[in-house]
Amino acid sequence: MQTNPQLNANGELRHLLSIEGLPRDVLTGILDTAASFAGVTEREVKKVPLLRGKSVFNLFFEPSTRTRTTFEIAAKRLSADVINLNVAASSQSKGESLLDTVSNLSAMQADLFVVRHGSSGAPYLIAQHVKPHEHVINAGDGRHAHPTQGLLDLYTIRHYKQEFGALRVAIVGDILHSRVARSLIHGLTTLGTPEVRVIGPQTLIPAGVEAMGVRVFNDMQEGLRGADVVVMLRLQSERMRGALLPSAQEFFKHYGLTAQKLALAKPDAIVMHPGPMNRGVEIDSTVADGPRSVILPQVTFGISVRMAVMSIVAGN
Ligand code: CP
Repeated sequence: MQTNPQLNANGELRHLLSIEGLPRDVLTGILDTAASFAGVTEREVKKVPLLRGKSVFNLFFEPSTRTRTTFEIAAKRLSADVINLNVAASSQSKGESLLDTVSNLSAMQADLFVVRHGSSGAPYLIAQHVKPHEHVINAGDGRHAHPTQGLLDLYTIRHYKQEFGALRVAIVGDILHSRVARSLIHGLTTLGTPEVRVIGPQTLIPAGVEAMGVRVFNDMQEGLRGADVVVMLRLQSERMRGALLPSAQEFFKHYGLTAQKLALAKPDAIVMHPGPMNRGVEIDSTVADGPRSVILPQVTFGISVRMAVMSIVAGN
């Protein structure tokens, strides 16, 4: 019996919908493949023919700068044809259903759908309906999962820290609404990270999050102490119903990352942020642009990681 809808009968990755439940060897396989593509992105001719003749459809029903663009670059570097559906100008505005839109794109000989959607589970729904040769990659669904962001975060941590086995990782801010945090936590625990901390006000910490294998801290200073990696998150006001916070200024005072608070982490701690950043709300510019920030390298690593994911699923 097949237990994970992302895997084929041989246990290989057919779709990428979530990091949750993926075996450790699948995750390390993606990270190792991404490392092999890092060289391609530094060459003068940045192309390999792995997806030549394939069509990648980018379906972004929510805004995106980094994910959409790096998927497009990654697909082009794999020699695929890339089609970016202009959702605002598509027939969705005339009432066409998500599945009808996908069926019509499928009739145009699609091979890969990259899907971002405000509703959790939308990429799963599409994956249940696509043809056997088609693949679906989740580019962020509601507050549920953002697996390629989680993978590029894992890639970044491995790049700077080499091993997961002795790390203390602190994830700070709006954990409640963060698909990035959920994906990263699943990845870190699967790869054997001994201490994953989540830091934030109780109103922004999901109930029962400890079951994911994390320690909860409401005091940022306490939670940052001795951290090797600090991952800052954006306040997702678009997903907040009702007042969960007194004000952005109050949030920054208690949970904004400043140089003073960062001094509590290890001297070689790296600072990450998935973007988009709200300077002065979750992070101070001196830290965001400082020597321990790896926020822009994260974006660059995203290209190799997305090349790896697309080439792996398309090969299965
Ligand atoms: N990190 C991330 O998903 O950024 P975008 O919303 O710009 O894609």
